[in-house]
Amino acid sequence: MSKVRVKQHPILGPQEEGQWVTIYFNGKPIKARKGEPIAASLYAAGIRVFRYTKRFQEPRSLFCGIGRCTDCMMTVNDVPNVRTCITPVEEGMRVEQQKGLGQWSEKNATS
Ligand code: FES
Repeated sequence: MSKVRVKQHPILGPQEEGQWVTIYFNGKPIKARKGEPIAASLYAAGIRVFRYTKRFQEPRSLFCGIGRCTDCMMTVNDVPNVRTCITPVEEGMRVEQQKGLGQWSEKNATS
């Protein structure tokens, strides 16, 4: 398992084991703890680039970690612009790096 995860916190105590599930980053399976932020799971798996900016195609990753800056936006289950630092993991989620503003899939388009 990753060294990024805090297993013994000085104030909160030991991390509970929780339920491990599988999510998919750009189609690749990743082990994640159910309920933790998607960004935490990706970070623990060594993934640092979450999206690329529209204008200059610059990489972005975690910045604020509290849902305020939008640097962690990704496409989750075909929905673009999801803030992964505040969105909890669910079994089987499909998470994809977002390029620019992202695109809605045909499945999520409303007529
Ligand atoms: S890291 Fe800032 S909104 Fe997620």
